[in-house]
Amino acid sequence: MTQHLGRARTATSTAGPGPQQDRTGWWRNAVIYQVYPRSFADGNGDGMGDLAGVRSRLPHLAGLGVDAVWLSPFYASPQADGGYDVTDYRAVDGRFGDLSDAAALIEDAHGLGLRVIVDIVPNHSSDQHEWFQRALAEGPGTPARERYHFRPGKGEHGELPPNDWESVFGGPAWTRTKNPDGTPGEWYLHLFAPEQPDFDWQHPAVHDEFRTVLRFWLDMGVDGFRVDVAHGLIKAPGLPDTGSSGQLRLLGNQELPFFDQDGVHAVYRDWRRVFEEYPGERIGVAEAWAPNSQRTALYVREDELHQAFNFHYLQTGWDADALRAVVTESLDAMRPAAAPATWVLSNHDVVRHRTRLGGGLPRARAAALLMLALPGSAYLYQGEELGLPEVTDLPDEARQDPSFFRETGQDGLRDGCRVPLPWTSGGSSYGFGEGGSWLPQPEGWGELSVSAQTGDPDSTLELYRRALRLRRENDDLGAGESVEWLPAPDGVLAFRRGGFVCTVNTGDEPVELPARPGQLLLASGTFDDGSLLLPPDTTVWWTTGPAA
Ligand code: NOJ
Repeated sequence: MTQHLGRARTATSTAGPGPQQDRTGWWRNAVIYQVYPRSFADGNGDGMGDLAGVRSRLPHLAGLGVDAVWLSPFYASPQADGGYDVTDYRAVDGRFGDLSDAAALIEDAHGLGLRVIVDIVPNHSSDQHEWFQRALAEGPGTPARERYHFRPGKGEHGELPPNDWESVFGGPAWTRTKNPDGTPGEWYLHLFAPEQPDFDWQHPAVHDEFRTVLRFWLDMGVDGFRVDVAHGLIKAPGLPDTGSSGQLRLLGNQELPFFDQDGVHAVYRDWRRVFEEYPGERIGVAEAWAPNSQRTALYVREDELHQAFNFHYLQTGWDADALRAVVTESLDAMRPAAAPATWVLSNHDVVRHRTRLGGGLPRARAAALLMLALPGSAYLYQGEELGLPEVTDLPDEARQDPSFFRETGQDGLRDGCRVPLPWTSGGSSYGFGEGGSWLPQPEGWGELSVSAQTGDPDSTLELYRRALRLRRENDDLGAGESVEWLPAPDGVLAFRRGGFVCTVNTGDEPVELPARPGQLLLASGTFDDGSLLLPPDTTVWWTTGPAA
């Protein structure tokens, strides 16, 4: 077991205090940086990122000023869905290293004052998982099948899927099996790719298994878990038809019989008890696509998980009224649960926000400063601190997103945000690694690299560094649970938090502020401090001195 962080932003051990004496609330305003291990840094030169690569680049994250690192899955996996198809939850995939690399990474991160959150994938396993292979081999009616959702098909010969559920990646959510004797058999449920069969969480063995997996990683010293498809574990009794057709969207908010069922909350109450066995406030973060913020807030009740991603915020366009509404609604929804709101602009499943918001780099920078000014916890996705755009011209033969290969899928939209990071202006894979890169990096990627941007005061990297430093120094940034909206011209957002004011112009034209809000702290773009003219796509932070 590695040392565990005892206090926010320090690197001391908590060997002494028990669970109740160690409440720092470190996660309430933490900035958490998502590492997608395949694409972050490649330590062994095989073209794919790995844990040794992540470890070697931890100083970049500490220097950036984030509080924690969330690692997308690095567990044993055939990689049918970038590692979200796990065969062994207690093993590191050989492509990423081994358990000693994970231990060293956790220890180094803690030594640098960074907490470590790992992904856990409880909704489904890989089809190569020992349990699923045994279920296939033992055949219909055997206990081995009860840990997944196997059902006979409809139609005269069972040739039709058991219900009308669609996979998030396109096509039916059911695949037919062959019986051990080779004849066509039952169907099994997979809300994602066919290589990702859904567990049946009505089975106690599934609960037991995940409890021990949590303890395994908690014993390794991790500070928390990002819970994949947290809203999907429990399906409505009888698996009723949805009655609708149409492609499910990733991060969608439809009401469906397989998502956001009330029964999921018992699982997280149980998990919370496991977290509480450990010192140092180990946390759970729900990836829960719920129909609204009120439903999302149920995942972060006092005895459940600590945070839930705010996909409603991520899906909001660059529009002052819409942003004001989603910020207010998110804060209002979380307040009764006494949980922090969270904010996120990009992750490994969506088009990078520099491209998605439609305004290029100036808008991306303005959006980042808005997000980092809000109360609660912010999630950064690797490369956004470099202002990376979505890569939109990947050749078909390079793509790996499973949805690209499904007839009715979502066009492999996720590969373009997963292109390996540029660390240096030149050299092999722009410093990603010595052996090329599993997705091609575009021309000019090196100009966006960490080394090219370091020391350039106008670079996006230096903007993030300054913003995160100010956020640490200024208690009115990040902490708290509300904002005070100030009167503002059309297209402008303005809010106060204690002695801090944030102004954002989402429009296409410069806008004159009614009054000078305070002293300039930071601007996302060119801003003439002598004037009150807020340029388009610009966020400015102001200090008004001590809070009233
Ligand atoms: C959500 C993850 O973020 C995504 O990458 C994955 O494909 C699905 N869950 C299925 O695990």
